[in-house]
Amino acid sequence: MRTSDSSGNFVPDLEILTRLANQFFSAVPGAAPVGVTPDFSAKTGHSPSGVTNISQPQSSLPDPHGLISEERVPTVADHLPHSEAGSGTSPSASPQNAALPYSPNGAWAGVLPQHAKAPGAIALPFEAELREVLSSLRLPAQPIIPAVPSAVSPQYYFIEHTRGLPAGSQNPGASGYLRGGHPSQQNLGAGVPTPALDIELIRRDFPVLQERVNGRQLVWLDNAATTQKPYSVIERLAYFYEHENSNIHRAAHELAARATDAYEGARNKVRCFLNAASVNEIVFVRGATEAINLVAQSWGGRNIGEGDEVIISWLEHHANIVPWHRLCAEKGARLRVIPVDDDGQILIDEYAKLLGPRTKLVAFSRVSNALGTITPAKQIIEMAHGAGAKVLVDGAQSVSHMRVDVQQLNADFFVFSGHKVFGPTGIGVLYGKEALLNDMPPWQSGGNMIKDVTFEHIEYHQAPARFEAGTGNIADAVGLGAALDYVCKIGIDAIDQYEHQLLQYATRLLKSIPGLRLIGTAADKASVMSFVLDGFKTEDVGAALNKEGIAVRSGHHCAQPILRRFGVEGSVRPSLAFYNNCADIDKLVAAIERVNSGRHIPH
Ligand code: ALA
Repeated sequence: MRTSDSSGNFVPDLEILTRLANQFFSAVPGAAPVGVTPDFSAKTGHSPSGVTNISQPQSSLPDPHGLISEERVPTVADHLPHSEAGSGTSPSASPQNAALPYSPNGAWAGVLPQHAKAPGAIALPFEAELREVLSSLRLPAQPIIPAVPSAVSPQYYFIEHTRGLPAGSQNPGASGYLRGGHPSQQNLGAGVPTPALDIELIRRDFPVLQERVNGRQLVWLDNAATTQKPYSVIERLAYFYEHENSNIHRAAHELAARATDAYEGARNKVRCFLNAASVNEIVFVRGATEAINLVAQSWGGRNIGEGDEVIISWLEHHANIVPWHRLCAEKGARLRVIPVDDDGQILIDEYAKLLGPRTKLVAFSRVSNALGTITPAKQIIEMAHGAGAKVLVDGAQSVSHMRVDVQQLNADFFVFSGHKVFGPTGIGVLYGKEALLNDMPPWQSGGNMIKDVTFEHIEYHQAPARFEAGTGNIADAVGLGAALDYVCKIGIDAIDQYEHQLLQYATRLLKSIPGLRLIGTAADKASVMSFVLDGFKTEDVGAALNKEGIAVRSGHHCAQPILRRFGVEGSVRPSLAFYNNCADIDKLVAAIERVNSGRHIPH
């Protein structure tokens, strides 16, 4: 299956790969028919920078690195039904492939080395073996957010000036993961329609889902704490460090250009994902917590005074309570809290009573991390604006589950963390309306955020550089861009619909367990199924599930006020992502039933 070159580097055996590909395609509905052999030949050459040229379609992508040749030929990637199975080889596999074929905006160009030639088609399906070869190649997905035309030029645009990148449009989702001729493997039970997504294909993109924990295959149901990463994100990070790593905006050399283009390309992907009006509204930060602290200290420091009021909801994570509590304490302002009903739903009438001329800011979560409640965001924002207040939306728990359109919401600020949406940890986003951001004083100070410095006078950049002092988390921003590509490729609306069905399925089963009480039963919920089990400590339930390879969070979830509202100090919190399936839920429910009956682990 595998061979090594003279340096001991892994080189795929392309003859075997080709044979398996043909066998595979002959078995996949809608793929290349039996006997039609994909043309594996690809034009390669060397750019002035010394890296391998890669074929691309119609020269539509920018090519500042000289990575892309004019003509593109079909590749294995074109014929495979899911993103993991692109084509190519390990970056170190051969001198021909000295660089993996990302365009600066992260587009995967997908080719095999020049020497790869397809033999004739062989017609025995052998999918498992092919998949083993392909998964050992660990190839990234093809991003679908449009390229960033003209963001790049041989003149290193960032040296001349920082300019906004042109608007793109959010792709409604690619069909690679939609069910076609594949037989249903997701039985959601009587009366529930078969989901449009092919979850089994999706699961293969997430290597950690194959992990074994305590002798069982991992069941990851701790998605509200963090999400797992697809190969495309993992590979994008490796590619950055192998081929692009440099500081950004600072030097006239090739790698500075590549790194800057990759970073600014990722900013544009975020802009597309949120449907923000401009890349200048996208500030990279460490995560949602840092974004909220930035707004509290910078915007709040300037705009909140004695006697002013900040409104939050009872549902909030500590990250959307503590910064406002501190700000109010410092300024002599008042923190007010919107109550919720016994299902965990915002009481809009009570909110209306809190709003008034003193209200300066309303900060609330789009989705509660502890209960899963989806809040009526548009209504809350409109009412706040009606009172003359600004609004911050904490999207940390919503972005992986539902579409966000900051212009449609008319949010003043929107924050999220990359790791909750299949991206790396340590990177997140503050969206702010451009005029608002430019009216805010800088937060942290240092390099990158200044235009001019003398000992007497300092001139700051406009947003977003104004808020990105120092060397940021460049690689992880690029990784976040790859994660958003992945989500968009599947299609956020399809994800929303599938997860909704799965949540209904899980809720129905959980409710049938004697002694199990769901915490948070809002009509409109996403992902989260908090519960307590009569007679058992939450941490004991969590530990028992872990013994069966099932990962959930138990405890207070950094949201103590809302749990106390329901009379508990903690809960067990399974939480879903689109790679979860009914089998995961069935295992969870069976394990809880064993805990309930005193039989923790079956033998
Ligand atoms: N905010 C994360 C959670 O809800 C850590 O678990």
